[in-house]
Amino acid sequence: MSLLAKFNAAEQLRSGLAGAGQDPTGVVFDAIRSATEGVVEGRETILAGTNNYLGLTFDPECVAAGIEALETQGTGTTGSRMANGSYAGHLALEAELADFFECPGALVFSTGYGANLGTLAALLEPGDAVLLDADAHASLYDGCRMSGADVFRFKHNDVSSLERRLKRLGERASRCLIVVEGMYSVLGDSAPLDEFVALKEQYDAVILVDEAHSVGVFGEHGRGVAEQQGVLDKVDFIVGTFSKSLGAMGGFCASRHRALGLFRYVSRPFIFTASPSPSIIATTRMALKQLRSRPELRARLWQNASRLYASLQENGFELGPQVSPVIAVKIEQKERALADWNRLLRGGIYVNLMLPPATPGSASFLRCSVSAAHTEEQISTIIEAFAGLRD
Ligand SMILES: Cc1ncc(COP(=O)(O)O)c(C=O)c1O
Repeated sequence: MSLLAKFNAAEQLRSGLAGAGQDPTGVVFDAIRSATEGVVEGRETILAGTNNYLGLTFDPECVAAGIEALETQGTGTTGSRMANGSYAGHLALEAELADFFECPGALVFSTGYGANLGTLAALLEPGDAVLLDADAHASLYDGCRMSGADVFRFKHNDVSSLERRLKRLGERASRCLIVVEGMYSVLGDSAPLDEFVALKEQYDAVILVDEAHSVGVFGEHGRGVAEQQGVLDKVDFIVGTFSKSLGAMGGFCASRHRALGLFRYVSRPFIFTASPSPSIIATTRMALKQLRSRPELRARLWQNASRLYASLQENGFELGPQVSPVIAVKIEQKERALADWNRLLRGGIYVNLMLPPATPGSASFLRCSVSAAHTEEQISTIIEAFAGLRD
């Protein structure tokens, strides 16, 4: 049974986590009442760890669009677009995403993870070089690995580290891909995209930006950090997900390069998986429409984020470097983080527990994600619960 022996370590890890109370990897929501409320172990709980930035999961128009699609197009597509064809909704969403990002084209994938895998595996091949931010999401690492390209990491958000790597690549720099995120999901910090883009132009490279956490959050029109920093038209490939601000699931790649149109013939994660179901496409399209037509959601999100960040800081917690809807509270010791996370949950607040090695600097974090749908009262309750951890 030596093949299965590796699971002994995972079992030890799992029982260690569960020993302190609720297993953070096994939380069950017995009911979801709204974008910000659920029931855990019979307790009414404020959801503060959902990435539901615009709070659109219960938006009546999104729900109605999903129901209509279920009733008129059925529950699923039951196959891939390559083999079974596309639904009109897939193409409409692609056109709407292209319009939103002011690009000639966009491609829809079945998950955000798949969008990263599919885009990187299509763009890169063995012999190519990719420069990857060290704190990039697992899906970006996995996409690079799947492509067989040579991967070189540079220091997180560090412009001079990227430049050193580009120099070292010599002639290869002009056909390398730089891979970064807009806002990073653990600490809520933004990339210096304007500087990264300037470097990529200087070296004639190509840049891909994952705006999974930034769409709907940053930029005058909610297009992400690239829009906020004025470089949207210079980014070569924008990838993202429907599972955060858009409240559904699925992913996309938008690009100003015509090559994107050919990904559907070469990208295995696009070709060999079922396409998103009609209800998912319908709710995503409606959510995108809301994102575009209701800037007040973004304003409300930032109000909530600023208030929570300022209060936690006043209470002496060590936080990520900038105000954002992802607010990570650093807890030095892993055991303390686990105990605090359990205390919050017992007090009716659900946040995310982030433990090493999946964290920057191998620290532990209680990660809050703020929503436009949080009420002032709910934000006050979250602040009080954190203050209680100091007792
Ligand atoms: C930066 C980043 N990219 C991609 C993904 C994958 O998206 P999805 O969970 O929608 O597949 C995530 C998910 O958390 C993410 O944080």
